[in-house]
Amino acid sequence: MISKASAPAKIILFGEHFVVYDVKAILATINKRITVTSETTAEPTISIQSQLGDIKIGILEKNTIPELRPFEFLAKKMIKEFSHKGGIKIQIESDIPYGVGLGSSAAACVASAASISGLFTKYSKDKICKLAIEAEKTIFENTSGADCTVCTFGGIIEYDKSGYQKIKLEPDFNLVIVNSEIIHRTKDVVSKVLQFKNNNAARFEELCVKESEIIRKVKIAIEQKDYKALGSLIKENQVYLKEIGVSNDTLDGIIQTVDKTSYGSKITGAGGGGCIISIAEESAIDDIIRKLDKYQIQCFAAKIDYRGLETF
Ligand code: PMV
Repeated sequence: MISKASAPAKIILFGEHFVVYDVKAILATINKRITVTSETTAEPTISIQSQLGDIKIGILEKNTIPELRPFEFLAKKMIKEFSHKGGIKIQIESDIPYGVGLGSSAAACVASAASISGLFTKYSKDKICKLAIEAEKTIFENTSGADCTVCTFGGIIEYDKSGYQKIKLEPDFNLVIVNSEIIHRTKDVVSKVLQFKNNNAARFEELCVKESEIIRKVKIAIEQKDYKALGSLIKENQVYLKEIGVSNDTLDGIIQTVDKTSYGSKITGAGGGGCIISIAEESAIDDIIRKLDKYQIQCFAAKIDYRGLETF
């Protein structure tokens, strides 16, 4: 028996960091995917092949690569739940850059949850999403579940700590994603913002109000397909991200370069490194990518993905 599933990468369009303090954020999936193929085996082992390494362990053994824990967890859970006597072989193929805030781990958890459970049963997307969040918690204990949610359902979602809401419209704007190739730790950047907040309580409160206002305007811009307005809101959001200290000279330099020919660009995710997103006219994309040549970093055009999780 073989079961295959794929899930998309995600970006944070608006509201990172402020979401930690109860402002809404807007997330979307993009057309970069992870595909997971699972197979039942007669031999009672769990084997995983991925860009992060290959392992083969006995059903009661623990693997030594921490990043592979979610897949080991899912395989063991399904073997137990369905009293499977053999083992499971899992193959993970990805075109999502790893560890730069594009949700590669959530996408892998979602696609694996669907692919591995699909060997035994057909779960609803809701159930797969819950299972994926459980798996992701084996490496990110405090995950909000937002990444797995958007990777499962695709498109654009609005979320805060109380829950998620899908934005039903399907705008078709063009994005450029720039990977600064600077490694960052979300935890450290979030702590830095907490420090800013503690030292500038009144200003931070003001920024949260301004960010909420951005989110309100974003929904109108999306409704009206006003991508120029969306670009201006992206620029405004970046000003606030810079003020709370999550940008740096390299990211500012990239944003300045991209801003010349795009509607607007900003950090996506924690900042300190990671990726930058930009909204642009289709005709400007080649020029933007050419202008970034001097940085010798990865950049690519992207579209919003509305497919979400797919099973085959
Ligand atoms: O870099 P990412 O994709 O893990 O995003 C972090 C988003 C923050 O708002 C900075 C933190 C959070 O938990 O929401």
